[in-house]
Amino acid sequence: MNNVLTKNKMLSSTQKFYSDVIKGLKSSPKSMSSKYFYDQQGDQIFQQIMAMDEYYLTDCEMEILKEQAAEISKTIALNKSPFDLIELGAGDATKSIHLLKQLIGEGQDFRYMPIDISENVIRNLETKLPQALPDLNITGLNGDYFDMLNRASEISDRRKVVLFMGANIGNMTVTEARAFCTKLKSYLAPDDLLIIGFDLKKNPHQILAAYSDKQGITKSFNINLLHRINRELGGDFETENFDHYASYDPESGACKSYLISLKDQVVRLGDTESVSFLKNEYIYMEISQKYSLQEINQLMSGLEFTQVKNFFDSGKMFVDSIWKMR
Ligand code: AVI
Repeated sequence: MNNVLTKNKMLSSTQKFYSDVIKGLKSSPKSMSSKYFYDQQGDQIFQQIMAMDEYYLTDCEMEILKEQAAEISKTIALNKSPFDLIELGAGDATKSIHLLKQLIGEGQDFRYMPIDISENVIRNLETKLPQALPDLNITGLNGDYFDMLNRASEISDRRKVVLFMGANIGNMTVTEARAFCTKLKSYLAPDDLLIIGFDLKKNPHQILAAYSDKQGITKSFNINLLHRINRELGGDFETENFDHYASYDPESGACKSYLISLKDQVVRLGDTESVSFLKNEYIYMEISQKYSLQEINQLMSGLEFTQVKNFFDSGKMFVDSIWKMR
């Protein structure tokens, strides 16, 4: 039964991947969804990105969690009332582990509920975190964020502290981020907390370098999606016929990645579909939106969240911003 369920789930996720790819490549301008970057190879390349000198985001947020865990813990503990710490897109929890350690050390009554779309990620967290933190109360939730937030409410009615770190909100346009936070609100109750990691606007050269590295790791991250389409959807992309281009607009804060077709070409997708590219035509791959503090306030206050506290790294390049549901 379980096998049948898993197989059906796999079938329907491949079908959704296929229909999203076709829809994006038949649109004008052509686009792809960056959520598909993260297959096994994509995860590995993303690890390499996070280790790059140019990619400052991970180090900045790590510094915040390492150096200010005690202060963050004090801010979220609220008279030691019990809570569920729910992390959206927990990954390997290398940053949140510092906060977990602090909360456990203080004897806070909380349960850690990491949510991730990858079954593998959740299985690893449930095995490895208790080895590092034997007193951790952990319930992993594998699935879509909002389905799993529902599940979390079924399991427990304690107050929620939701973590959405890593500047993942930046992979949405501002309009999408507003819609996402509006939806998130409907899963929260008054006094629940939301901690969001935002990458801040800064010197445009520094931002562009993080998405346009000389070694070409970000290029291979983007190109990997073409390989993935070849592997999983029967595509015949010749990846050497595409180049990567990143741009940053300091005014809007939008950092965008594109793949550029280097010649006129036709790419087959499975047995029945094909897509034509003109030389220099682009595929819009990803947005990594940057915010000013004022723009963060506008976004969140407009949704009737009340600001609790901002935690910055020492260079003020990144912020983990805590908001309370009114
Ligand atoms: C996951 N996300 C926050 C990364 C970012 O910075 O937008 C993904 C990424 N894309 C290229 N480099 C990193």
